[in-house]
Amino acid sequence: MHGGNIHYLMRNTNLNSSDWVDFSANINPLGLSSELTDLFYQSIAEAVHYPDPDYHDLYRATAVCFGCDEKHILLGNGAVDVLYQWLHKMSPRKAIIPAPTFSEYEKALKGVNAEIIYATLHQDNNFDITAEMLAPLLTKDIDLVVLCNPNNPTGRIIPSEEMDKILRLVLSHKCYLMVDEAFMDFIEDGDKQTLISKINALPQVSVLRSFTKIFAMPGIRLGAVVAGNSQLIAQCKEEAVPWKINAVANAFHRYINTDDAKEYTIKTRHLITKERQWLYNHLSALQQLKVINGAANYLLVHWKDNNRTVAELRERLLQSGIVIRDCSTFIGLDERWFRVAVKNRNENERLVSAIKDNID
Ligand SMILES: Cc1ncc(COP(=O)(O)O)c(C=O)c1O
Repeated sequence: MHGGNIHYLMRNTNLNSSDWVDFSANINPLGLSSELTDLFYQSIAEAVHYPDPDYHDLYRATAVCFGCDEKHILLGNGAVDVLYQWLHKMSPRKAIIPAPTFSEYEKALKGVNAEIIYATLHQDNNFDITAEMLAPLLTKDIDLVVLCNPNNPTGRIIPSEEMDKILRLVLSHKCYLMVDEAFMDFIEDGDKQTLISKINALPQVSVLRSFTKIFAMPGIRLGAVVAGNSQLIAQCKEEAVPWKINAVANAFHRYINTDDAKEYTIKTRHLITKERQWLYNHLSALQQLKVINGAANYLLVHWKDNNRTVAELRERLLQSGIVIRDCSTFIGLDERWFRVAVKNRNENERLVSAIKDNID
């Protein structure tokens, strides 16, 4: 179960997608930039041909964007696509993942019969991931640690100094580290926080990136693994299903390094920083709620009412045209947690007002 399933809502309520604001998926509230929209429309003409099976231009453009050699990059139909392919290739026997975190790591690891050890994150520590909590779990037989930075659903970022400690710890155990940075583009100093710049020197480390969130194109889809181990990447390319990136997504190579893309990212980061603070302040002001102070484009919220559940609140908010993410399906969270995306001010105001009306 994921956020953003407007199709399920349309099938199961009498509402249309134009009747609600979807806070359950963490997509850039600025939407598709007009330049990118035009490019996608134009690229429809290319749909009559098979896309380049080598995605030559797309690999070159993403290499420039990530500042690394193409041989370190594996592209696919969204981050989730390459996550599955990458974990299948690595085939770990025993892996550590945090709890709570994005559910697809567990699913993909179960798919390769890996044993999973959960690193339980604690509310009284803001759900932070630390080297100290990972250390006792890192037994000799662990061959992979998967982290999400910033983590979904907590929004908490692992500070660079802590990440360095984690790197030292994991590398000394000679196991692999995969860090999902699907939301890193929304962070003001995300370019400094990313592990991509360290990839060349670290064959055990890989980073998962997504273009779908920041460029508001989850329906077009494009994602990447950037990994130090270029041999494994080469094998994945050889074994990949052909033409898995469609002609429209492939046309993204003409946009990715443009001034428009850079300005759009900067504008998004400013908007998110300002609006997240506004939303944090206004939700925290409600005494029934405890908001985790995240750094990403979403916030995790605890409803302190012991007698009612978020499922109930979610149903009520739906009637006001607001969709939130009930987080009870995340391992480590119960039915009193929900997640909301940070959006534009008028939408955020609508959210706060609807929550106020429904939590008393
Ligand atoms: C942490 C995280 N990683 C990856 C993804 C998937 O990204 P994509 O749409 O590029 O497959 C999601 C989607 O919700 C996510 O939350």
